[in-house]
Amino acid sequence: MNRYLTLPVLLAVLTSLSLPARADRYSVPKHAAFEEECGSCHLAYPPQMLDAHSWLHVMNGLAHHFGTDASLDDKRRVAITDFLAQNAGGRKTGVTADAAGRPLLRITETARFVKKHREVSAATFKRASIKSPANCAACHRQAAAGDYSEHSINIPK
Ligand code: HEC
Ligand code: HEC
Repeated sequence: MNRYLTLPVLLAVLTSLSLPARADRYSVPKHAAFEEECGSCHLAYPPQMLDAHSWLHVMNGLAHHFGTDASLDDKRRVAITDFLAQNAGGRKTGVTADAAGRPLLRITETARFVKKHREVSAATFKRASIKSPANCAACHRQAAAGDYSEHSINIPK
């Protein structure tokens, strides 16, 4: 077991002990290319919401990205892929794969997302003011700041 107790792991454990557990706050790490390229069509989703394996698959499929072309030049793609891998989920989100072990490409299909949104109906997600569960900021008014806490939720009519 000792070989798992690397410095980053110890630091993560110490941090989690010294701070109150906040399941509703995500730090928003700064990365100019990520914010520019991945925040233009939708929110620059918190990297912690998918694991590194999922992000790799998202980044390897940008030419066919949910019905659109989000491809990048190699330099930016590699830089953003590295950034996402370094900040990917772990403690908060766990593994983001389907039942067969295939990496999920959507945060909105992860078990964690489904569980947290159990009380939001499919019809609500489809409202003209919301359009899609992927439109986090429609309801989470402080999503851009990584704040998903209950007091900043406002579901539009
Ligand atoms: C040209 C527009 C465009 C760009 C640029 C773009 N995306 Fe997307 N992305 C989309 C669309 C459209 C969807 C599907 C949204 C929906 O289902 O409502 C999507 C969905 C996603 C989802 C899944 C959301 C969910 O349902 O959980 C992830 C993750 C994602 N994008 C990551 C990225 C990353 C990382 C980048 C930067 C490399 C990026 N996107 C750049 C258009 C874009
Ligand atoms: C239709 C409105 C709506 C949309 C769109 C939406 N959410 Fe939520 N979200 C909610 C509601 C309602 C809750 C439950 C709040 C509660 O019960 O405390 C919630 C809870 C959460 C929580 C848990 C917060 C906590 O207190 O632990 C997270 C994290 C979260 N949402 C992230 C997201 C992300 C990321 C997206 C986009 C990919 C998203 N949500 C899209 C309405 C929405």
